[in-house]
Amino acid sequence: MSIVENKIINLPEHVAVIMDGNGRWAKLQNKERFFGHQHGAESARVISETASKLGIKYLTLYAFSKENWNRPKDEVFGLMNLLIQGVNDNLDTINKLNIKLTTIGDYENLPENVRDAVDKSVKSTKNNSGLNLIIALNYGSRWEMINAVKNIALDVKNNKIKVEDIEDELFANYLLTKDIPDPDLLIRTSGEFRISNFLLWQLSYSELYFTSCYWPEFREEQFMAALLDYSNRERRFGKTSKQLKN
Ligand code: IPE
Ligand code: IPE
Ligand code: MG
Repeated sequence: MSIVENKIINLPEHVAVIMDGNGRWAKLQNKERFFGHQHGAESARVISETASKLGIKYLTLYAFSKENWNRPKDEVFGLMNLLIQGVNDNLDTINKLNIKLTTIGDYENLPENVRDAVDKSVKSTKNNSGLNLIIALNYGSRWEMINAVKNIALDVKNNKIKVEDIEDELFANYLLTKDIPDPDLLIRTSGEFRISNFLLWQLSYSELYFTSCYWPEFREEQFMAALLDYSNRERRFGKTSKQLKN
């Protein structure tokens, strides 16, 4: 429980965000898509800082999907440079806020300059004990699950595990999120109602929050609205409402 703007709210432990709508926001003001990505990067900074100050333990931001490689080359290039700039420029603040930065995704197949910048920040923040900020970078949920299946198959073949051992917990331990609790709340901006290959296994019981707000305009006020909405939900996990109240 936490007191936010005089309201007692049940904070989610883990918030995951599909940051969407940068391009459409830019288009609305007759600007290039990159202008939208720049303002989107500022939203990511504001939301991370707010989450940290509220005492949220995990924040996962979907920054670049495996499918995003299909965008025009100059847009991909611009996004990669923004990422590098984002981690470099904010490293001091991240450390001051005691935030620990990690990533999930196909890391090996990212450009070397992106990996160098991210590696530096991950290393520098690894002992921080506040917010765990997880950037989903070159991430795809089907890719992640197929890798898990391949590794499970190998471990069965090498007699490290038995087929009978394969259940929920074991499977989750083969995912990139193995040390991270499942998201309690998923936020998607920009009025799209889809998951876009994000955390398909992990979102099984998450509360979903969709807003028409474009990501560059999603700031503290909009985040609070999402958190308040979440805090009024009843999570039943298959049970009845009456059972939960008893
Ligand atoms: C989200 O905004 C940023 C990324 C996917 C990297 P978009 O770039 O998808 O913006 P729209 O959806 O085209 O408006
Ligand atoms: C999802 O947004 C990926 C990220 C936010 C990084 P997209 O804009 O790529 O999603 P789709 O393809 O429109 O579903
Ligand atoms: Mg989009």
